[in-house]
Amino acid sequence: MPSARIGVAESITRALETGSQPQVLVRTVTGLERLAAAELVAARHRVIDLSKRQLIVVPSNATIITDPPRLADDLFVIKAAVTDPGRTRQALAVAMMAVRRRLRACPAAGESVFAVSASFQGKRNYNRFDVEDLVGEALRELTGTPYHSRRTGTPPPTERVDWRVILDGTTMWIGVRPFDVPLHRRYWRRQTVAGSLHPPVAAAMARLAQIRTGHRVLDPFCGAGTLLREAYNLMPEATYLGIDQAPDAIAAARANAPAHTSTSVHFRQGDARQLSVCVDRIVTNPPWDVRLGIGDIAPYLSQWRRILRPDGRVVAILNQEQAAAMIRDATWRVLDVYDIAVAGQHPRIVVAELRQCSGPAQVSSIVRRAVLQQAEHLVRLRHRSEGGGPERW
Ligand SMILES: C[S@@+](CC[C@H](N)C(=O)[O-])C[C@H]1O[C@@H](n2cnc3c(N)ncnc32)[C@H](O)[C@@H]1O
Repeated sequence: MPSARIGVAESITRALETGSQPQVLVRTVTGLERLAAAELVAARHRVIDLSKRQLIVVPSNATIITDPPRLADDLFVIKAAVTDPGRTRQALAVAMMAVRRRLRACPAAGESVFAVSASFQGKRNYNRFDVEDLVGEALRELTGTPYHSRRTGTPPPTERVDWRVILDGTTMWIGVRPFDVPLHRRYWRRQTVAGSLHPPVAAAMARLAQIRTGHRVLDPFCGAGTLLREAYNLMPEATYLGIDQAPDAIAAARANAPAHTSTSVHFRQGDARQLSVCVDRIVTNPPWDVRLGIGDIAPYLSQWRRILRPDGRVVAILNQEQAAAMIRDATWRVLDVYDIAVAGQHPRIVVAELRQCSGPAQVSSIVRRAVLQQAEHLVRLRHRSEGGGPERW
């Protein structure tokens, strides 16, 4: 995760000790708000407001900074919040007076240059640069710190503090990013491939997979390994296998893999239409037929059905057509569907398990398990005869 700026975690701790309730604004991918809230609540923070792409949180301790939420796209410590002034420039100028009063109570922003980025919902008679410059100038006057305006298009210096202004239709939020870069940037991401997944989406899918100690987890379309990397962060005591037909993708996945995990994270070249493993979880992101295509998803679904343990679970991010095919397929019991917006697309995260049958079908599931175990045994023998040493896959 990005590094936190010096002193931010301590100032949250101090604020909590003195009984004040610092607030944090968390930005998410559209459609992941509920899941992001669940992650924050599991970490004992209090979510006091949830709207599109945004959560307002009262942290219970400084872990919101030292171990920030993985589903968050970005996070800001709120320094001022006033009523959204609405459409007119005049109302914005009035709101700025209240903003200045609130900001006066903030400690100085520090020596380094700062930039401001603003966004708003709905029609306004001013643009984002107007808002940015008003807030930027107010902060410059109050703190004496140099302000970099984005109006001219000149990129701000790399070493800077980022302020954020959001006018969401109800409130004008002003916050400062306590990290050097947005949270969605991962330090481990050295390489990507066409269609690489946004890490917070991968983190959400990893949580939905409910991976347990000892589970064997497969991504048959692993690309640069984003899903397995995020899943490993969440549950390092499982075993992970990524398969991709493209050698470049396997090289990228290996470059992104955690260090010192050669026995628990594997990547190998292969075809998702010919899988010969037995797994507890499948987390995957097949091509969405945008830049890369796979055509009909049905043959892949039947592979997943064949290799998944009876109590297994699939979490797949699919295009609308692929998701509809999986939801229609009576062999799957769909547990949840999340509609999200990412990279200009509107995919669906489908969480499903195998529908359990009774009677003769149960017998067939026992037979299936025996066949899978035999297939795994053969794969292991082949691996050893090829000099690969013991491998858990
Ligand atoms: C959308 S990308 C996956 C991106 C990945 N989640 C990431 O974050 O980098 C889909 C991947 O499926 C791979 N692929 C397509 N058809 C395949 C097949 N039949 N077997 C295995 N991999 C396949 C492509 O090479 C591509 O890397």
